[in-house]
Amino acid sequence: MVLSSSSILSILVVLLLSPFVVSFTIQDRFLQCLSTTSHSSYPFSTAMYTPIDNSSFATVLLSTAQNLRYTLPSVPKPDFIFTPFNESDIQAAVVCCKQLGIHFRVRSGGHDYEAVSYVSEIESPFIIIDLAKLRSIDVDIEDSSAWVQAGATNGELYYRIAEKSKTHGFAAGLCTSLGIGGHITGGAYGPMMRKYGLGADNVIDARIIDAQGRILDRQAMGEELFWAIRGGGGGSFGIITAWKVKLVPVPENVTVFTVRKTLEQGATKLLYRWQQVADKLDEDLFIRVIIQTAGNKGNRTISTSYNALFLGDANRLLKVMEEGFPELGLTPKDCIETTWLGSVLYIGGYPSTTPPEVLLQAKNILKSYFKAKSDFVQEPIPETGLEGIWMRFLKEDSPLMIWNPFGGMMSKISESETPFPHRKGDLFMIHYVTNWQNASGNVGRHIKWMRGLYKYMKPYVSKNPREAYVNYRDLDLGMNRNTRANFKKARVWGAKYYKDNFYRLALVKSMVDPENIFRHEQSIPPLPLHMR
Ligand SMILES: Cc1cc2nc3c(=O)[nH]c(=O)nc-3n(C[C@H](O)[C@H](O)[C@H](O)COP(=O)(O)OP(=O)(O)OC[C@H]3O[C@@H](n4cnc5c(N)ncnc54)[C@H](O)[C@@H]3O)c2cc1C
Ligand SMILES: *[C@@H]1O[C@H](CO)[C@@H](O)[C@H](O)[C@H]1NC(C)=O
Ligand SMILES: *[C@@H]1O[C@H](CO)[C@@H](O)[C@H](O)[C@H]1NC(C)=O
Ligand SMILES: *[C@@H]1O[C@H](CO)[C@@H](O)[C@H](O)[C@H]1NC(C)=O
Ligand SMILES: *[C@@H]1O[C@H](CO)[C@@H](O)[C@H](O)[C@H]1NC(C)=O
Ligand SMILES: *[C@@H]1O[C@H](CO)[C@@H](O)[C@H](O)[C@H]1NC(C)=O
Repeated sequence: MVLSSSSILSILVVLLLSPFVVSFTIQDRFLQCLSTTSHSSYPFSTAMYTPIDNSSFATVLLSTAQNLRYTLPSVPKPDFIFTPFNESDIQAAVVCCKQLGIHFRVRSGGHDYEAVSYVSEIESPFIIIDLAKLRSIDVDIEDSSAWVQAGATNGELYYRIAEKSKTHGFAAGLCTSLGIGGHITGGAYGPMMRKYGLGADNVIDARIIDAQGRILDRQAMGEELFWAIRGGGGGSFGIITAWKVKLVPVPENVTVFTVRKTLEQGATKLLYRWQQVADKLDEDLFIRVIIQTAGNKGNRTISTSYNALFLGDANRLLKVMEEGFPELGLTPKDCIETTWLGSVLYIGGYPSTTPPEVLLQAKNILKSYFKAKSDFVQEPIPETGLEGIWMRFLKEDSPLMIWNPFGGMMSKISESETPFPHRKGDLFMIHYVTNWQNASGNVGRHIKWMRGLYKYMKPYVSKNPREAYVNYRDLDLGMNRNTRANFKKARVWGAKYYKDNFYRLALVKSMVDPENIFRHEQSIPPLPLHMR
């Protein structure tokens, strides 16, 4: 167990001075404040985990921490974790943190790529407000909507929808352990985005706790803040306690497939072709490409897996493919007809015999040490460009790219409709990852490799700005260095995530949280006074 220097100091001071000093640590002052601020009648200590008092502190801290790189002993740890049971606990926590000047981070599903939801590298001490206990889901099929609390995962939401209807779904992420709280704040793309857009495009209401500790719904928060929270990134505007989402129609039977090609099987030419067609195919069809290395030392090669969801039956899919992408050579044998929930498990990477109840466990099947980045591509990358990528891939232990096709609904929504600006003109998004499983492995080597690949890709991807997906957070793009986030500096990385929407996000921030109590390494800074 690792203690932050401040808690070690607190222990020393308490040991030296007790019994003369009683209420001293920040958790004591926080508890004291909660009990005077909140109307709840239960002891708040049962929602508090400190490194000194609670043996389960580490378990709770690590429970949803997805990037193991941020769990190493050298990484700063919170003074304590607060796990509220309901909205009113969160209100009290916000009021008390503000009053006592305690820096806090907010965590729903813990998938943040740079762990800003559970690690502060710029301010110490800090605490975590972890929403894992707020996970109720209320599906209303008649209204085609659902209220889902922030701590629930997208997988739980999919399960609860399918439990009530075989012809309703929700358009959001592919990985099924994402916290719906953080996920939607950045956009939330998935296999139905070409037909229905992002998760954020399908939000109809929300509940947020603001900097004053008030609970606001859409009407009370107003359309500016409601705009900002649907794509403007997490942890900047308040604590979302629940989203009301619009369900989308799905057919009773859908079709999925995965077709794999290695370099020896013509992967390069085929991938060049995919880039020309993937965004123009029928909107019912989403074909992403998963690119990895395969084989051993002697026969190591590149493997490209065309992994797809089609909102229709296999017969129609075969026709759509014959017209739009015959080069893949899809056969009836490749096609698997299943329900929409079946497709969620398939695309989520579960073996075919896995019961859907696995989604209720809300666990990620692939935790690792990783560094990731993203890019948007507007012109097909020529074959020579691809060959340079393969060369780099073959030098790394466990490299991965996923290419996600845009087009369809994505190009019908304007850049300013939500803060997520990557719309018309984007053929596909690249997601780069390098993974390692060994804690004492050479972190620097992997990160260097990733930065090298990113540099290599520059001529082939979006420019001015080089765009990035905020849900694939990358602190290499720039970050707030201290409490007084600097708007001018932040504009550099802000434009990559939000393009021209960044200014409007900063303006909303100035209105709702001018003191910047909701902040982290890449939170939206308030505008400087003279610009408001
Ligand atoms: C394995 C894996 C697969 C992924 N697959 C996809 C995918 O298919 N599609 C996609 O779009 N993205 C995907 N992502 C990215 C994912 O959408 C983001 O990491 C997202 O931020 C996760 O939300 P979370 O609640 O789990 O994360 P957290 O780490 O809890 O939070 C992320 C950010 O949001 C803030 N935040 C958290 N909860 C709240 C809240 N209630 N109110 C306000 N702010 C909050 C945090 O402070 C932090 O800044 C994937 C990530 C991983 C690790
Ligand atoms: C919040 O939850 C606690 C514990 O379950 C309970 O005592 C309290 O009354 C609840 N508060 C509200 C407003 O529901
Ligand atoms: C953590 O330990 C303290 C002190 O023993 C106790 O009061 C509190 O209830 C514990 N918290 C939890 C969540 O068990
Ligand atoms: C879905 O598939 C099942 C099994 O193949 C079939 O019985 C059913 O009629 C199909 N439903 C629709 C709407 O096509
Ligand atoms: C590489 O060789 C191994 C052992 O000879 C074989 O099992 C594997 O399928 C080969 N991989 C590829 C991608 O050709
Ligand atoms: C992990 O990395 C260290 C240092 O590079 C090495 O000595 C060790 O053998 C590795 N362990 C495994 C299981 O690969």
